[in-house]
Amino acid sequence: MRKSYLPFIAGMAFVAICLVNCSGNKQTEPAVNLSVAAEKPSFGGYETQVQWGEHLVTIAGCNDCHTPKKMTPMGPVDDTSLMLSGHPEKMPPPTVDRKDVESKGLVVTASFTSWVGPWGITYSANLTPDETGTGKWTESQFLYAIKNSVSKGIPGSRSLLPPMALMPVKFMTDDELKAIYAYLRTIKPIKNSSVQPTPPVLAMKKQ
Ligand code: HEC
Repeated sequence: MRKSYLPFIAGMAFVAICLVNCSGNKQTEPAVNLSVAAEKPSFGGYETQVQWGEHLVTIAGCNDCHTPKKMTPMGPVDDTSLMLSGHPEKMPPPTVDRKDVESKGLVVTASFTSWVGPWGITYSANLTPDETGTGKWTESQFLYAIKNSVSKGIPGSRSLLPPMALMPVKFMTDDELKAIYAYLRTIKPIKNSSVQPTPPVLAMKKQ
């Protein structure tokens, strides 16, 4: 007896599905103009690519290391007159006990632009659009530098060292990095040649 109900139940289920799907619901759905949605570029909620880039630079903390600090009663703050110009080339190397620091840990100097650790000393680079910074870099060079951690984004150049090599910025999407590049084109160009890293003292002694 039970068996004979099955086709009936299956038939009712089919009718119910049909009623739900074919009841004209489609007419009540708001019409989406796909062509307009596709044409409008998305800048992470910002009006322009440059504004989005500025936002990303701010929240990713690029200024923390690439903008020298000045001391105030409230402690060190970004020296905005030197924004993103990297370690000042005329600033002398840090005078810490390098052997001690390099074997035991890491030191960041007062400018926040030079770092001593097991890799030696690194100095943050000039990111401004001056020719001593990223002025001559192409967009694809910038993406290559960040994504592959390669100096100046030139294939075959040396690898970038910590702390830059450890920065999660390499996981940004191409669109995000392009926005950062676009923003960097708009900031004040500052003449300041990037200082190259110094190898660790222990490695130098071996040579
Ligand atoms: C914790 C410090 C720190 C932070 C944060 C940081 N950087 Fe750096 N960055 C450095 C240092 C130090 C170097 C130099 C590394 C070297 O010489 O190997 C560098 C190098 C670079 C270079 C390579 C420059 C060249 O001439 O090859 C680029 C590009 C760069 N940083 C972009 C950025 C961007 C964009 C951000 C933010 C998303 C950022 N950095 C955040 C410390 C930092």
